[in-house]
Amino acid sequence: MDFDIDNFRSVFLRYTRMAHDFLPKMIEPHILDVGCGSGVPTLELAKMSNGTIIAIDVDMEALTKFHKKLKNSNYEHRITIKQISLLDNEFPDENFDIIWAEGAIHVIGFKKGMNACHRILKKKGFLVLLEAFAGIEKNLELFSYRGFKLVKKIVLPEGIWLKEYFDPLEKLIETIDYSELGPDQVKEIEKAKDEIEWVKNADPEELDCAFYIFLKN
Ligand SMILES: C[S@@+](CC[C@H](N)C(=O)[O-])C[C@H]1O[C@@H](n2cnc3c(N)ncnc32)[C@H](O)[C@@H]1O
Repeated sequence: MDFDIDNFRSVFLRYTRMAHDFLPKMIEPHILDVGCGSGVPTLELAKMSNGTIIAIDVDMEALTKFHKKLKNSNYEHRITIKQISLLDNEFPDENFDIIWAEGAIHVIGFKKGMNACHRILKKKGFLVLLEAFAGIEKNLELFSYRGFKLVKKIVLPEGIWLKEYFDPLEKLIETIDYSELGPDQVKEIEKAKDEIEWVKNADPEELDCAFYIFLKN
């Protein structure tokens, strides 16, 4: 069966494009995608920019999936995937023009994640984060104290995660015949079911999120 959870995740790429469109045009920017997962935003970044991208994550399963997708894409020459932690990297100081992180910095920890990004981002470089308000808003002062100026906030429509991701995903999962799935797909569905359960018990406001674009002074 042709089930791929990334097809649902792709709904949010229109906001990735909006955030990218806000950035000034750059010639072949050097981009770091932090917590790239299976590479849904990374591939979109490659499509939109003419840059080179290093995509990092600690989750080998997600990266294996990404490797397969990358092989079948036109971007193999511009995307390098590495299994490393943002908190344990050996990138040179002031190395990247753009650091992109969709849904990763709250997992890594705002303070540690921000400090790690600060070291490896060039001066006048951009840090682009997709984060839930609930997590990032109380940490905005930390970013400004560290020398990151918030230059744009792109708010995603209220309830979008439920309407466009979790509800349709749950409906589809209900109709799935497990005997037609491979082991990786079954694992993905079990993980998705746990997330759906979490969302049902969560305060809907916890899902409201935005792209935050910072400029490093
Ligand atoms: C919510 S997922 C987002 C995946 C992808 N950016 C997306 O939007 O589809 C967060 C990702 O951050 C990764 N992550 C967690 N800690 C990390 C670390 N220290 N360094 C790099 N990635 C990390 C997780 O493994 C996970 O794949």
